Amino acid sequence: MPTATASAYDQLTARLHDRAVVDSIGTLLSWDQETKMPPKASGYRAKQLAMMSRMEHERATDPALGDLLAACAEDSDVQGDPVKATNVREARKDYDRATKLPTELVVEMTETSSLAMDAWKTARAKSDFKEFQPWLEKHVALNRRKAECYGIPEGGELYDALLEDYETGMRAAQVESLFKPLRERLTPLIAAIADKPAIENAADGRACPIPVQREFLNEIAGALGYDLDGGRLDPTTHPFCQTMGPKDVRITTRYDANNFLDALQTTLHEAGHAMYEQGLETDTYFGEPRATAASLGIHESQSRMWENQVGRSEAFWAWALPIAKKHFSAAMDGLTVESLHRSSNIVKPHFIRVESDEATYNLHIMLRFDIERLMLSGDLAVADVPAWWNDRMKTDLGLDVPDDRRGCLQDVHWSMGAMGYFPTYTLGNLYCGQFWDTVNAELPNLDASFAAGDFAPLLAWLRDKVHTPGRTYAPQDLCERVTGKPLSHEPLCNYLESKLTEMYNL
Ligand code: CO
Repeated sequence: MPTATASAYDQLTARLHDRAVVDSIGTLLSWDQETKMPPKASGYRAKQLAMMSRMEHERATDPALGDLLAACAEDSDVQGDPVKATNVREARKDYDRATKLPTELVVEMTETSSLAMDAWKTARAKSDFKEFQPWLEKHVALNRRKAECYGIPEGGELYDALLEDYETGMRAAQVESLFKPLRERLTPLIAAIADKPAIENAADGRACPIPVQREFLNEIAGALGYDLDGGRLDPTTHPFCQTMGPKDVRITTRYDANNFLDALQTTLHEAGHAMYEQGLETDTYFGEPRATAASLGIHESQSRMWENQVGRSEAFWAWALPIAKKHFSAAMDGLTVESLHRSSNIVKPHFIRVESDEATYNLHIMLRFDIERLMLSGDLAVADVPAWWNDRMKTDLGLDVPDDRRGCLQDVHWSMGAMGYFPTYTLGNLYCGQFWDTVNAELPNLDASFAAGDFAPLLAWLRDKVHTPGRTYAPQDLCERVTGKPLSHEPLCNYLESKLTEMYNL
């Protein structure tokens, strides 16, 4: 910690670094909980995590931090330096939001979350929405209060205040104007695919032992550019990517011993998140906004690009099939680049969001966004959520939801009280589609380099354009700087239509 005579800016960054240490210890504890912790340790782990989050909150809302931010705002040297100005502007935004929530509200939300998560698990197991309904009602009420504390932006709505936590600068009306035309183009595309013969998954039923899959995935992820000397891959039920320090970005995946594509796609996704984290300038600025991701939507754009645009391409398979054969030998007999390319691009409506393909996935997100917005505005009673959900699944995906377990009770998000989070998944797909258009215009030989196992040109482009700036630009400004255009549904629609028209002979 610098002395009191150090400049306000140096004191500010010292506090941010100190907070990052606390945050990263909390992250390490939660990573351990998901990957290694013995089940009997959960009670004490909850205490440890609660202590860490209290310490984080104290540091985030310390009035001394507010004083330092005020002093930095007055300092022309700080304001004239782009890195320092970014850090002060973004740290101010974080501080203002953190201090707008009264402690009793934060405590009530945390307590409600842990009780509601238990209730949700039981309700989901029994497929009984009524049991979860009072908790969801309580979460909606708490989220309304939270949004009011944050304040509704001029001309906006309650939802905007929540969305700001995840996708800064984005508004619900704008999400709607992006999602509506996307839905109008995806629904006929998905319906046309449903009329065509299904594509058989050529990877199904091929026994690939999990330890061998792990070696295969480490080789693939490392070749893409995920630095495994500063990372690692572990198994979990719900895959994720977490950063525990400037040289420690870990991912997890889940395995199906009889279909290696599942773990591969999940690993490519999480490695995409990890490469973004590794591309932030954490050597110099760890803990500062300058070396923090721009938003959840931008984060998701990076995971989706490696999972979908790269990992589901023919060029990728031209390179990856021989590697798969090396690891899995006889289990790969008869597989071709074409059969794996086709198997990676199966479109089939599914009840479950996380099991869904690249095209139908977005319709799951739009449904959740609409429900959240309607619940928050009071236009949809929580009791009517299952019926609304099931109607929409029928309209958009042609599915009859058999029970709430496979319907509105499937996701953990609402039980945690997280509202405003879902749209960032599809916003990520949209950012990704747009970045993909631009990178292919600027680097026209990407396919050839993928087929040769050279992913460095793509990664270097992403590092330069998307990763390095951190939070220097708001997400939509970053998109416009990189692509020359405001965010639009069109690049993603064009990409999906052209690929799937060919794949399914539409
Ligand atoms: Co993701």
